[in-house]
Amino acid sequence: MVRVQEFTLILLTLSVCHGRQNNFIDEEFEPVVQDSKYGSLWPLPQKVFISPVSLKLSVPSFKITDAKDSSAGPGCSLLHSAYRRYYEYMFGGAKKLKFNKSSRTDPSGLMELQVWITSPDSECDGYPSVTSDESYELTVDQPYAVLKAPKVWGALHGLETFSQLVYEDEYGAKSINTTTISDFPRFAHRGVLLDSARHFLPIKVILANLETMAMNKFNVFHWHIVDDQSFPYLSRTFPQLSQQGAYHPYTHVYTPADVKMVIEFARLRGIRVIPEFDTPGHTQSWGKGQADLLTPCYSGSQLSGSFGPVNPILNTTYDFMNQFFKEISTVFPDSYIHLGGDEVDFTCWKSNPDIQKFMDQQGFGKDYSKLESFYIQRLLDIVTTTKKGYTVWQEVFDNDVKLKPDTIIHVWKGNQEQYQNEMANITSAGYQTLLSSPWYLNRISYGQDWPGIYKADPQDFKGTEEQKKLVIGGEACLWGEYVDATNLTPRLWPRASAVAERLWSAKDVTDINDAFNRLSAHRCRMVKRGIPAEPLFSSYCPNEYKGI
Ligand SMILES: *[C@@H]1O[C@H](CO)[C@@H](O)[C@H](O)[C@H]1NC(C)=O
Ligand SMILES: *[C@@H]1O[C@H](CO)[C@@H](O)[C@H](O)[C@H]1NC(C)=O
Ligand SMILES: *[C@@H]1O[C@H](CO)[C@@H](O)[C@H](O)[C@H]1NC(C)=O
Ligand SMILES: *[C@@H]1O[C@H](CO)[C@@H](O)[C@H](O)[C@H]1NC(C)=O
Repeated sequence: MVRVQEFTLILLTLSVCHGRQNNFIDEEFEPVVQDSKYGSLWPLPQKVFISPVSLKLSVPSFKITDAKDSSAGPGCSLLHSAYRRYYEYMFGGAKKLKFNKSSRTDPSGLMELQVWITSPDSECDGYPSVTSDESYELTVDQPYAVLKAPKVWGALHGLETFSQLVYEDEYGAKSINTTTISDFPRFAHRGVLLDSARHFLPIKVILANLETMAMNKFNVFHWHIVDDQSFPYLSRTFPQLSQQGAYHPYTHVYTPADVKMVIEFARLRGIRVIPEFDTPGHTQSWGKGQADLLTPCYSGSQLSGSFGPVNPILNTTYDFMNQFFKEISTVFPDSYIHLGGDEVDFTCWKSNPDIQKFMDQQGFGKDYSKLESFYIQRLLDIVTTTKKGYTVWQEVFDNDVKLKPDTIIHVWKGNQEQYQNEMANITSAGYQTLLSSPWYLNRISYGQDWPGIYKADPQDFKGTEEQKKLVIGGEACLWGEYVDATNLTPRLWPRASAVAERLWSAKDVTDINDAFNRLSAHRCRMVKRGIPAEPLFSSYCPNEYKGI
């Protein structure tokens, strides 16, 4: 115990003295390897009691079934496909063993997990949303285990938790302890951002990460689908955007069928898909397939041949955005779209005489952030007509754009002090907010960085209780400049798992040594399930990664 306190102190001192931006590396952290009283549970449930009474699971006769009174019966394919998935995760390896016939009927063995959806509308055929009930209660005892949840979303999390309780005893028999768990997430929005524009990400990689997100109880896939470098989204309305703007028009695009597959795969795992179409900056690739969309830049009095952000002074720009976002709002079922709005470079706008004239007419003076606001305002009006809500990066708030009250402001800039001030300002203005600043997982360096990721708390800023309630969660971001299918998964996992626990578990779950021991086991479980999640520190897994 003394050691735990010691290194907690060291961590605190380091983070204050160095004042490093985002993650800090803690060379001092020396984990004490020991079994956690919570086994390998990750993220830690809100309330959990695991007894020392161990039951054997009857394999292969063990069944996951619908409880008699469940509102989701055999017709709920979402649950039934989850039963098959989790059966495979729990017993997949065991199939190869020769079964001992007599142990199958062992009366002391646990035969069944009953899944009971308790509310009349199970939401089996619906989409998850920010207001979805994700709670569940799990009781493991004789004669059978019971998983109770108001909606299917909680049941999916409960199945993951049940699978995490199963372990092999010293003779290799599948075992589970008598356990009671009552669980729900601390934050409603727990996301992972993947960037499929800096590098194209094959669908297979996206699906593998959705699967891994479910293992960590993440519930939002923020799909940063296009950017300056490429436009892989195949639009039905404007097919020339990907025809001209993708890295390759046939092999490096997401077809409507691909997008549909991602959305359904995510839904089956309780994950929302929120696409980001970032404008007016970060749009070089859009300009290749859509003439006059981008601002022509000048060099002196001559056109320079290069282009800047979206041209905010042309009516055709808004006609285009109107049609484009109409399509997006029908393709993506989630009630939110991420509209970006970050890092707008004003150099090109400044160089363009037509823009200067427009600035004068509008009385913007030399303040180009007013022009940016003018554009964003009109874009928001357009998206509002599609009945969608929107999320924007923090600059949109910083520049005083008029926002709908349900706008979500996504904080990504600054060191701890800066992002905490920003969160305080956003929430005191009454807006909901998401945190990503400490969770830019594309930033890497030598050493253990997960403790810094783990310790950041989105509600740690000066503000009232009301303000704290406006924090709906956060997102781990993996920007793609140096990431593609070869290295995405190990770079993201298990570092994103640290974010997952911060966003799911209670605020006071901060014991870094206990976290280390559970996370190490969770990491090995991901590896056993075929996910190449990188190690935390010197260690081994009972089932090492076998390669692809
Ligand atoms: C489960 O029960 C076994 C056998 O009593 C015990 O050794 C183990 O510590 C228990 N696991 C947990 C997580 O409590
Ligand atoms: C099968 O299991 C029973 C009860 O657990 C045990 O007594 C018996 O020795 C086992 N048989 C074999 C061949 O392992
Ligand atoms: C752009 O639209 C506005 C408002 O509808 C209109 O007043 C203006 O004349 C239009 N400009 C051009 C160049 O068509
Ligand atoms: C927060 O608002 C205060 C008062 O308007 C301002 O001085 C400060 O710069 C803002 N902080 C951030 C991080 O934007």
